[in-house]
Amino acid sequence: MINKPPPPPPRPTPPGARPRGPRARGAPGTGAGGPGGREGPGQGPGGPRQEPAAPPGARRNIMAEVIVKNIIKRYGTTEAVSDVSLHVRDKEFVVLVGPSGCGKSTTLRMIAGLEDITSGELYIGDRLVNDIAPKDRDIAMVFQNYALYPHMTVFQNMGFGLRLKKVPKKEIIERVEAAAEIVGLTPYLKRKPGTLSGGQRQRVALGRAIVRNPKVFLFDEPLSNLDAKLRVQMRMEISKLQRKLGVTTIYVTHDQIEAMSMADRIAVMKDGVLQQFDTPMNTYDHPANLFVAGFIGSPAMNLIPGKLDESKTFRDASGSFSLDVSGYIPASTSPGDYVLGIRPENIHGDNNLNIPSYQPMQILADILEPMGSDSYLYFKIGGISMIARLRPETSPTEQQPATLFIDRSKLHLFHADSGANVKG
Ligand SMILES: Nc1ncnc2c1ncn2[C@@H]1O[C@H](COP(=O)(O)OP(=O)(O)OP(=O)(O)O)[C@@H](O)[C@H]1O
Ligand SMILES: [Mg+2]
Repeated sequence: MINKPPPPPPRPTPPGARPRGPRARGAPGTGAGGPGGREGPGQGPGGPRQEPAAPPGARRNIMAEVIVKNIIKRYGTTEAVSDVSLHVRDKEFVVLVGPSGCGKSTTLRMIAGLEDITSGELYIGDRLVNDIAPKDRDIAMVFQNYALYPHMTVFQNMGFGLRLKKVPKKEIIERVEAAAEIVGLTPYLKRKPGTLSGGQRQRVALGRAIVRNPKVFLFDEPLSNLDAKLRVQMRMEISKLQRKLGVTTIYVTHDQIEAMSMADRIAVMKDGVLQQFDTPMNTYDHPANLFVAGFIGSPAMNLIPGKLDESKTFRDASGSFSLDVSGYIPASTSPGDYVLGIRPENIHGDNNLNIPSYQPMQILADILEPMGSDSYLYFKIGGISMIARLRPETSPTEQQPATLFIDRSKLHLFHADSGANVKG
């Protein structure tokens, strides 16, 4: 830790990099190849940003990008990870998300050095680390199963890695105490893990990662053992902590809400293939394909298969539903088979303001679920189950005919064969 070579000179800020401090949520076009974000480096809203005070022992200003370049992982003939490339910026919080078995943990474990890379290159900082042992990669990993030593106190658990590295005792005490302060465990340092709650144990695991002052934090579903309420609290704590420490972080989860709420950028994976690497809002507002459209967002986007004709009218397969989408999709879109996507909140119960993009449709209201702030209305279009998220005062009555309004300015259209979004 102490006798590290000096860090490489800082690289120019890549396009779309966000400043630390208040998060630049929804900055446009930060996807691969997209236009740059709006903010310049070091400028948060309200002018130049004050760096938060560094905890004792923390290193500052060390560039720690993680570059995953065309990485493939094969187990025999199974390809668990297929040609994944990710450029994680210094201090960025990137979440890998996707369904079970899509290759998230395998990707993370390759970054950690716990799994060999079949082909491709992995850089941490400026160093190619394909053949560097995990302990020399300057990373700290936190797992779902945080594997604390039951016979050791919280202090001993947190300082164990430092003891192995023969860090002087005085420095271990300083670093463990500083980390305990950060994760709120100062009163618990003498306790054994068995006497702690789930959330406190998870904090010990976090503290153990922090004391190492790594260049990169790697998290693999660290919250899945916790109950729902604690999960929400801990995800906020981890986000806050990551910003405070400014450590580049890669976080794996299958929970898209966790991904949306924590990430600077989300990498959505499916079957070992990276589907989209973009800001949470861009994955939501501009999903690259049908998979991302269906995976990100809850309740999920409504998806209606059908055909587009020469005059840019979309008709569902049953022929009972049609929507004039001209002016709302690229003029160059050719007729053919497509899937129309519309998010539940873009179907409305009224059009008091006579908004031109709203097109009315007649439906039969099925079930209405009041959520308080809004209501979920279930109905069908040509046999396809749909959900509208309505303001309670505009909700129709169950089992009655009703008129709903689709906001065509918010629709998505995907090629039926490739799944690609026609809006690019
Ligand atoms: N040691 C192994 N040998 C063979 N196949 C493996 C091995 N480890 C993982 N796999 C396979 O690689 C694929 C990706 O697994 P991985 O653990 O990365 O998925 P994941 O996205 O983390 O899923 P989950 O959300 O369930 O943890 C799966 O099909 C899995 O069966
Ligand atoms: Mg996993």
